[in-house]
Amino acid sequence: MQDLHDKRIVLGLSGGIACYKSAELVRRLIEHGATVDVVMTEAATRFITPVTMQALSGRPVFVDVWDARVPNNMAHIDLSRGADAILIAPASADFMAKLVQGRADDLLSTLCLARACPLLVAPAMNREMWLQAPTQRNVAQLEQDGVNILGPGTGSQACGETGDGRMFEPAQLLAEMIGFFQPKSLKDKHVLITAGPTIEPIDPVRVISNRSSGKTGYALAKAAWEAGATVTLISGPTALTTPHGVTRIDVETARQMHDAVMASIKGKDIFIAVAAVADWRVENVSADKIKKNGKDTPTLNFVPNPDILAEVAKLPDAPWCVGFAAETERLSEFAHEKRLRKGIPMLIGNLAQHVMDADHTTVSIFDEYGEHPLPPNAKQDVARQIIQAVTTRMSAHRP
Ligand code: C5P
Repeated sequence: MQDLHDKRIVLGLSGGIACYKSAELVRRLIEHGATVDVVMTEAATRFITPVTMQALSGRPVFVDVWDARVPNNMAHIDLSRGADAILIAPASADFMAKLVQGRADDLLSTLCLARACPLLVAPAMNREMWLQAPTQRNVAQLEQDGVNILGPGTGSQACGETGDGRMFEPAQLLAEMIGFFQPKSLKDKHVLITAGPTIEPIDPVRVISNRSSGKTGYALAKAAWEAGATVTLISGPTALTTPHGVTRIDVETARQMHDAVMASIKGKDIFIAVAAVADWRVENVSADKIKKNGKDTPTLNFVPNPDILAEVAKLPDAPWCVGFAAETERLSEFAHEKRLRKGIPMLIGNLAQHVMDADHTTVSIFDEYGEHPLPPNAKQDVARQIIQAVTTRMSAHRP
């Protein structure tokens, strides 16, 4: 995935043990298409060598303001002018204090002051340093100055203590960088998404379920977060990692999913029902494991599960609802009919046999104007297009 294709990022390292994570970060940024220029403070070179960062970035690493390799002797101008963003990771307490004061006593601080591009800062320090009033004042001031603060995370620290101040993991910083360059079309919006399958018990060890990897729902959660929304994901059992920035609530059965949705729906602007909810559950669930006795096979009676999407769409203050339909035949006919039956403005349809478990998908958007096929693409790109389509249609319908 080339989400950072065409992006030139200056990755600045200041002194902190989290420098070791920046080696992985530079690889992840490059894997996603970015060109990365690494600039290190003198203190950062005590934690990780410029040789390591040069080998991983494939480009010269800069430390010194007086670097003779730069013909005009203006590394601070050259590097910051060519950049789409500067990311300081790790940002020490001292380096943030320098940024606040506008100091320019080494190459990294000088190029931050000389920048004409956005600055993102990933703090990394001991929890006491993070909580001290001067650090908190500096963070607030940087935010006021338009600097994006990424994190910090919480957990165990290199010093042996536990708390706030860990640098975000490389995967989180990568997600932040990709998100940073996406249009913020859902800023201030609250989005609720269901994803994955539900599982319905037969007895304590057996279940029936639907085939669903959850990939499309998770990709939509990520795309909505990238677009600036606050995202809650209600998920059936999947093997997927929660997208960065998204709040996830785990459920198993359709009724648990129904209850979790109803408990969370208040105040939501958009509801996207991607989950493959089991249409029926077993009425006569056995309290004990059903034993095989050689000749008889058990008979299961089914009762319908609540239709979560249809119920949400009927709420008096219903959010903007998007449904999904995975069909095996006559997609257009079934999708149009389903959209009308559920009473929703937009439905995404696909042919199930083409996309099950895959990373790519081919879908059509169905709305009051008809069917709009999207080009086949990676699920993440399709998810971004769907979020864009939701945004356009929502603003068109605003009174
Ligand atoms: O009714 P059907 O399963 O064909 O509709 C699919 C759409 O309805 C999907 O968006 C799915 O998440 C949602 N749905 C639901 N609750 C159900 C069944 C489906 O929210 N019980």
